[in-house]
Amino acid sequence: MEITKEQVIEILKGVNDPELGKSLVDLGMIKDVEISGNNVKVKVALTMAGCPLKSKIKSDVEEAISRIPGVGEIKVVLTTMTSEERARIFGQAPSEMEGMKGIKNVIAVASGKGGVGKSTISVNLAIALAKMGYKTGILDADMHGPDIPIMLGIKERPVGSRGMLLPLEKYNVKMISTGVLAGEGTPIVWRGPLVNKAIKEFLGRVQWGELDFLVVDLPPGTGDAPLTVASTIPIKGAIIVTTPQKVALSDVRRCIGLFLKNKIPIIGIVENMSYLKIPGQDEVMDIFGKGGGEKIAKAFKVPLLAQIPIDSEIRKGGDEGRPIATKEGTESAKIFLDLAQKVADSVLSVKENA
Ligand SMILES: Nc1ncnc2c1ncn2[C@@H]1O[C@H](COP(=O)(O)OP(=O)(O)OP(=O)(O)O)[C@@H](O)[C@H]1O
Ligand SMILES: [Mg+2]
Repeated sequence: MEITKEQVIEILKGVNDPELGKSLVDLGMIKDVEISGNNVKVKVALTMAGCPLKSKIKSDVEEAISRIPGVGEIKVVLTTMTSEERARIFGQAPSEMEGMKGIKNVIAVASGKGGVGKSTISVNLAIALAKMGYKTGILDADMHGPDIPIMLGIKERPVGSRGMLLPLEKYNVKMISTGVLAGEGTPIVWRGPLVNKAIKEFLGRVQWGELDFLVVDLPPGTGDAPLTVASTIPIKGAIIVTTPQKVALSDVRRCIGLFLKNKIPIIGIVENMSYLKIPGQDEVMDIFGKGGGEKIAKAFKVPLLAQIPIDSEIRKGGDEGRPIATKEGTESAKIFLDLAQKVADSVLSVKENA
């Protein structure tokens, strides 16, 4: 006997959205049913990109369809609802960037190159800002290598509420990682328009609440992803991270150019892995050379905000999920507090003068 669309819809009426407690069919989440022979393909539109329950929804749909006698291959494709569709479920359509309404200052942390310590600096800067009493969040916008949850020691996944995603919290810092988007079970091609759309969707759906500062750890480089993030979120200023070696000035220049093109001011340069302190000695070792950060700061007429030493405690803090900025009294924690003070002063003074 042939399988019919009606049969598939009928069986899916028994599958509820776990959060909303209504059937996927009634919620209008079943977009498309295709039958070829005994094979069934359905398209399910999630209420938001990065829905924490997407794997459950997918497996529930698969399970339901597998109960149809004689069914062959089952394919479930996940997509995201348009804002109009979402409005039908939740009432009034939230504006594009609804979840970001309560954020006063967004600070981007960027670098022309990978591996220079961007995530380390983002995390410690966010913790230091929180220690100073600012309501702070951190957005891990690097979906290829989302390191922030590890560095903060956050293992749980965020939960959804009425089509919005709630951030997790640690050390008084709220956190969301775009890694949620690329989560298991949904192969996504991270290129071009698709990534732009997904990032935009996602960013608007995070319910940050009131924040003084949101630190954004951007993906490395100057490609599609950092560009989309930089042009989607209203960024107050950017911090550029480099190392002291004879940095390829062109890398940093391109990175700075990306922000200036989007009319985002550069708060300053942070030079990471600047020197190595040898315990018990006054002298420091310039492992990666000297003067790179200063040279760039001068060339672009922006401040050199901090020079951060190579410190095994910094690496360990990240690996253990307890960043150095939480360890009061250490020299590196002081450096991050000082950096946070400079960043806050710079961003808040711009605002007062505006
Ligand atoms: N000042 C430092 N002292 C010692 N280790 C450091 C320091 N800064 C960063 N590291 C270590 O270097 C590695 C790379 O740092 P991190 O992940 O922060 O760089 P990134 O620029 O975010 O990299 P990616 O481009 O891959 O996202 C990590 O293992 C981190 O712990
Ligand atoms: Mg990183």
